[in-house]
Amino acid sequence: MNIVFAAAEVAPFSKAGGLADVAGSLPSALQRQGLSCQVISPLYGSVDRVHHRIEAADIKGKVLLGKKTVPYVIFHSKPSGEDETQYWFVSNPTLFDRDGIYTDATGEGYADNNQRFFFFQLVILDLISRKILSPDILHCNDHHTGLLPLLTKSLPQLRSVFTIHNFLYHGHFSDADKALLPEGIRNKLTPTQWDNYSALLEAITWSDAVNTVSPGYARELMAGENVDEHSLSIIRNRPDGILGILNGIDVNYWNPELDDLLPCNYSPTDRHGKKKNKRALLEKLELQADVDAPLFGSISRLVENKGFALIFESIEDFLADGAAFVFLGSGDPVIAMQLQDLLKKYPAQLAFYDGFNEKLAHLIEAGSDFFLMPSRVEPCGLNQLYSLQYGTIPIVNKTGGLGDSVEQWSAGQGTGFVFEPYLAIELRKSIELALKVFDDKEEWDRLISRAMEKDFSWAVSAKQYIELYTSWK
Ligand code: GLC
Repeated sequence: MNIVFAAAEVAPFSKAGGLADVAGSLPSALQRQGLSCQVISPLYGSVDRVHHRIEAADIKGKVLLGKKTVPYVIFHSKPSGEDETQYWFVSNPTLFDRDGIYTDATGEGYADNNQRFFFFQLVILDLISRKILSPDILHCNDHHTGLLPLLTKSLPQLRSVFTIHNFLYHGHFSDADKALLPEGIRNKLTPTQWDNYSALLEAITWSDAVNTVSPGYARELMAGENVDEHSLSIIRNRPDGILGILNGIDVNYWNPELDDLLPCNYSPTDRHGKKKNKRALLEKLELQADVDAPLFGSISRLVENKGFALIFESIEDFLADGAAFVFLGSGDPVIAMQLQDLLKKYPAQLAFYDGFNEKLAHLIEAGSDFFLMPSRVEPCGLNQLYSLQYGTIPIVNKTGGLGDSVEQWSAGQGTGFVFEPYLAIELRKSIELALKVFDDKEEWDRLISRAMEKDFSWAVSAKQYIELYTSWK
């Protein structure tokens, strides 16, 4: 069975968020289970072609974008090691040779994003029409690939699967954008109530199957939580609904035993290295907190939805009690400023790295005692899964994939701290309970063991995707 997996970002080549991690690990897991997988993504200016040995394949073509003929060249990265997954890249320097994936250096979305991703999808359609790609299943992800199910609808022997990684982003487009699409599909598009079109809703309408990245989030979407009425009617039109399949993680990359970005490796049975990583993290960030004091880590885009307002309500009380905090991420300047203010007030106990740094992300996962992830909405979330693998106890809101992957502690049971409803007081109580358990060294030790023993490899979820791919046969 041939799978073509289309995504706007794929780790380790390009990454803005969790979609890249999934696109960079699920196809390999499917490949290991006997499927043949090809991943296709744009070739951005920031992709390191030399390091990843990306070369031009002997494939060129043109697509019609409105009245303009736009050329493309296909690049590929040779499979490395035992992984036979093929990675293809669509190149057009005018549209993709920029440092950002979606936004420029100031965080502003590129004005021609619709055109860029329409072009990407039309190239995929062209490659399929030319039989350069011959998928049995075209697996699309998020709105950047949301028009492909409709674009490929009339092709025999092809089924489309669409995965919703985040329902908050629709990929809205206007009538002017619509004119860039092939004439044959224009009258099949449904306007939304806001007088524009939604690539996400088109995908839900036209795909052969739709899923999202956790059972909890699938239930929330179908129940209409944070979903407007127009979208809900489109979701409810699908007799098969939306299936929830929990994301897995790349357990070779996110593994404290093998992680070569850490100063010290450790395993569930020999955890001495964890404390050394904590010491290294404190030193690196020039924190003077006691190595035995609780250390809270956070790796997150700085956006309201990730729960910063809840954290800010009680953080100073915990700082006053001697706890330390490390924040890594960028985004909303208002949240960044609030963190900077805290940093000025508590320089010995709080660190804030504004930006992204892969190496520091691994050290935070390994060196922290707790991982804070009180998101208001979280389709799956991956950092809580990495945290569990690294024995760093997550504190999460019970929503979407967070509720599906972290089990509330109670004596001798559970893997973390799960609060609800989404209120600052509930997060505070959860942290207070977590600190009590932290002080009981034997209980704390058992909690870490249980967290680290959980299996979040793709093996189980990849099987669920295979069931989905074969459910029509
Ligand atoms: C999006 C979601 C996140 C999910 C990721 C990968 O970034 O916000 O919850 O884990 O996609 O599916």
